[in-house]
Amino acid sequence: MKRITLFPGDGIGPEITESFRQVCDALGADVAFDEELLGERAYKETGSLIPESAVNSLRRNKVALKAPCTTPVGRGFRSVNVQLRVLFDLYINFRPAKTLPNTPSRYENIDLATFRENTEDLYIGDEYETEDGFIARKKITRSASERIIRAAFEWAAAHKRQRITCVHKANILKKTDGLFLEVFNEVAEEYAKKCPALRADDRIIDNMCMQLVTDPEKYDTLVAPNLYGDIITDLIAGLVGGLGMAPAANIGRDVAVFEAVHGSAPDIAGLGIANPTAFLLSGALMLEHIGLPDDAARLRGAIEEVLSEGKALPRDLGGVASTDEYTHAVIANL
Ligand code: NAI
Ligand code: MG
Repeated sequence: MKRITLFPGDGIGPEITESFRQVCDALGADVAFDEELLGERAYKETGSLIPESAVNSLRRNKVALKAPCTTPVGRGFRSVNVQLRVLFDLYINFRPAKTLPNTPSRYENIDLATFRENTEDLYIGDEYETEDGFIARKKITRSASERIIRAAFEWAAAHKRQRITCVHKANILKKTDGLFLEVFNEVAEEYAKKCPALRADDRIIDNMCMQLVTDPEKYDTLVAPNLYGDIITDLIAGLVGGLGMAPAANIGRDVAVFEAVHGSAPDIAGLGIANPTAFLLSGALMLEHIGLPDDAARLRGAIEEVLSEGKALPRDLGGVASTDEYTHAVIANL
């Protein structure tokens, strides 16, 4: 039996966590959960946003499913997510996005997987003052670029994908983005022999944004430095039904943390109306990662079934189902 660290987090976190627990029970998945405090509640109870025992549990189990955490405002807190990324060097931010039935989307056949570099670029937070303002430094290294690009190619090859696209602004940022693109082209050349069915190309970020809005179905696997990845992944979430539908994973060499893209939604916390889909889909990614692809597929299939039936839709998808009602509908379709 595989032990997983489970962070119920804050806001709607405990409600969607309960939904996943019930679904997992019904699946009969061979996993056990070590529940740990993280985020605002952890701060109130232990004085730390990331208590020692949460870190130790993750070190031990190597895999976590994390519900959203509230970042306390105004006191100079670093977000829990950023801290976890740094602590465990979670250099891959992976976001698969697929159109599901009965979700607010203009497209029917989107199937996009984005690999966002998670450790450098403008996010190193290196800003300094000048006479007339500020300058922010952007860091792009060969090693960090290569590991995210290789992860993207490996995944695309393993999943028999058709196309992989590098997103950049190398026409302007010739050195930084130029290096990212150069490494991409090197790895692409290697894969052209290994995996001839996978087509590699690149797009400038602004053009990419337009094409994701006009022709998203033509794209497949995307790899990008941190900032462009941040922007296009939210754009893509919007294409497939919004925050309630978007799962994600932060993956390092040893540790992986799976989570929904959305936050703790304090405005609806405790009302029992949160849409647990993104969290359940993150749970499916987690199950796949620990070697339970059949359980993951059953869970995804059940979600698709409930959505296409359209009888138990959560409120953000235009229905009236509570978190509980939706969860039970998913369980009934496993
Ligand atoms: P948010 O994603 O929590 O909420 C934005 C809007 O989307 C709200 O109206 C909310 O009700 C709705 N929403 C989000 N998830 C939903 C779901 N599953 N079902 C139905 N409606 C949903 O973003 P916001 O308000 O900017 O952030 C709230 C808190 O969450 C902040 O403290 C922020 O720091 C934190 N946060 C945490 C993240 C994490 O732990 N991964 C990620 C993003 C924000
Ligand atoms: Mg973002």
